Amino acid sequence: MMHNGRQHQKRSVIKVICDNYTTRDDLEASWGFSCLIRYQGRTILFDTGSDSVVLEQNMARLGIDPAGLDLLMISHQHWDHTGGIYAILNANRNLRVFVPCSFSAHFKSDLKRYGAQIIEVQEAHEILPGFFTTGELEGLLPEQAALVRTSSGTLIITGCAHPGIVSIVETAKIILPKDEIALVMGGFHLLHYSDDDILQIIARFKDAGVRYAAASHCSGDRARNLFAREYGDHFIYLGAGSEIILENLA
Ligand SMILES: [Fe+2]
Ligand SMILES: [Fe+2]
Repeated sequence: MMHNGRQHQKRSVIKVICDNYTTRDDLEASWGFSCLIRYQGRTILFDTGSDSVVLEQNMARLGIDPAGLDLLMISHQHWDHTGGIYAILNANRNLRVFVPCSFSAHFKSDLKRYGAQIIEVQEAHEILPGFFTTGELEGLLPEQAALVRTSSGTLIITGCAHPGIVSIVETAKIILPKDEIALVMGGFHLLHYSDDDILQIIARFKDAGVRYAAASHCSGDRARNLFAREYGDHFIYLGAGSEIILENLA
């Protein structure tokens, strides 16, 4: 049993907590995104969904304790990614929170009231060993994405991908030029794109060597279905309750 316990601890896992889609009847779907990353013994929350009630309820049903988080990363200042933040900060005072440096002064001072240690992200850097931010990327709204290095390649986690999902993939390749990209997951922001545009994006993913794709949140059903058609069993229909074991992405 000890052996199993150790093996279990070594596994790195991503669990989707909030999403427009759900994979389990006991978890609520709601517009927004939030996922938990257990990686190298650390517990990282990426975004907080749109609503603290849904976030807290889904977390409880997934057995996740907000007091056990080591850090919080917020992709961008949109309500459907920041909505549950006060519930998290209330349960976990002094939490380190990585936000794009363009966040409004008023929002940052609100977070400090909860004792949050705000780290304003400008450039790409390694936050924890193997866990990176892309830095604040220019777009309709400035946004950062997370990069997670694993034995199977690098994972890219996006909130809404306002800077453009292809541009985020290309940025990841500049930051970690020797890495293969195992998976791109999260919101791809393709709701208003034509099928042809989406197919071109998929072609760019394949050119970049992206092995798995998991479009959810604001990607749209058409994009999900086109990605699924082109990626086959390397497409993951992500939703609340999805669990991805990083070492299994080979
Ligand atoms: Fe969003
Ligand atoms: Fe957004």
